[in-house]
Amino acid sequence: MAIKTDADCYASSFNFRQFGFNETVTMLLILLIFLSVPSNYIVLSQQISTFRKLNLPTTSVGPEPIDFDALGRGPYTGISDGRIVRYDKRTSSFVDFAFASQNRSKAVCDGTNSPALRPVCGRPLGIEFFHRRNLLFIADAFAGLCVVGPNGGLATQLATTAEGISLRFLNGLSVDQHTGDVYFTDYSSRFLQTQIQQAIAANDSTGRLLKYDYRTKNVTVLLLRGLSGANGVAISSDGTYLLFAESIANRTQRFWLRGARAFTSEVVANFQGMPRNIRRTPSGDFLVGVSVQRPGAPSIVPTAIRINGAGQILQTLPLDHYYNTTVISEFLQRGSRYYAGSAQANFVGVFNW
Ligand SMILES: *[C@@H]1O[C@H](CO)[C@@H](O)[C@H](O)[C@H]1NC(C)=O
Ligand SMILES: *[C@@H]1O[C@H](CO)[C@@H](O)[C@H](O)[C@H]1NC(C)=O
Ligand SMILES: *[C@@H]1O[C@H](CO)[C@@H](O)[C@H](O)[C@H]1NC(C)=O
Ligand SMILES: *[C@@H]1O[C@H](CO)[C@@H](O)[C@H](O)[C@H]1NC(C)=O
Ligand SMILES: *[C@@H]1O[C@H](CO)[C@@H](O)[C@H](O)[C@H]1NC(C)=O
Repeated sequence: MAIKTDADCYASSFNFRQFGFNETVTMLLILLIFLSVPSNYIVLSQQISTFRKLNLPTTSVGPEPIDFDALGRGPYTGISDGRIVRYDKRTSSFVDFAFASQNRSKAVCDGTNSPALRPVCGRPLGIEFFHRRNLLFIADAFAGLCVVGPNGGLATQLATTAEGISLRFLNGLSVDQHTGDVYFTDYSSRFLQTQIQQAIAANDSTGRLLKYDYRTKNVTVLLLRGLSGANGVAISSDGTYLLFAESIANRTQRFWLRGARAFTSEVVANFQGMPRNIRRTPSGDFLVGVSVQRPGAPSIVPTAIRINGAGQILQTLPLDHYYNTTVISEFLQRGSRYYAGSAQANFVGVFNW
């Protein structure tokens, strides 16, 4: 175990010579059991020094994905009325940037959180810039995989099917900044985003991991085998693998893109609750938004969890003091700041941690 806890220090200060052999063995066993408790339980958060809210436009909710453009403008976020909005520092407010649904009308959609309108208004759940070309790729739950240029507006649809099966409920997205290739997930091939509770109740496992090839414009299915609530995805800094979350299965898998294990995957992290988006940090670790079921407590706590590429938990940051919901959809690090998205909040949270 890489993490040193108070308990480790306490245990190492014991003088075993003052105990008999049996007591020593018993104590060592107890210590072993303690150390084998899943490290999700260990909270290693330093204090958050500041927290503030960037409020969404009136009545808007659900800023899930977050990103910044090549000029450092942002945060950009996708909200539940189908818009992608950008925070404008000058006016301290979010302004319209883009949308992916061909049929979206501002009059009908702006500010709505009505599930019935989502197929018309769109729901951007994954966004990430390809910085070199200043393009924003969008995984919209209803409008499919889309892309939009630096001036925003209506995005261009890139794909609505993959290998003959409709993209039913696009969710997470990650761009390889070297090639422009886009990795993205379809949460389910059976259920729409508006039917997510049914997908969870049915223990759905028809999700897919997909790739859009920037050069050939071809969409291929990387992983067809039953993904259970395929959600966030993030490519490693060297491009050799990606991590992706399976929300319904409470776990994260690693999919190898290159090397001897290319095109195989393995489970690297199991969580005590649902993981959602995954973002790579500047140091090459990953931050996952997880709704953690606390042991012994009835409450589900919105939590940011830092893991490495092997799925080892490095840091756990409960955010229940700042959020009155159970959901942290995304936790993005940019320098010393962290930006939190939540499907159930009407603001983007900004932390110094
Ligand atoms: C957009 O509207 C047209 C005409 O009403 C309809 O045929 C089409 O299916 C709609 N597309 C979406 C994505 O809702
Ligand atoms: C859900 O499906 C997975 C396989 O995708 C299976 O391992 C698991 O046991 C199922 N859970 C329930 C509660 O049915
Ligand atoms: C696109 O992908 C399909 C399926 O993998 C493949 O058969 C086809 O040759 C590819 N097309 C191009 C232009 O790369
Ligand atoms: C995932 O975690 C939640 C607690 O947040 C729990 O209710 C659910 O049963 C877990 N699902 C699986 C497949 O372990
Ligand atoms: C919880 O958050 C929502 C959205 O951010 C807000 O509308 C609501 O007033 C909050 N409720 C409480 C009890 O703070």
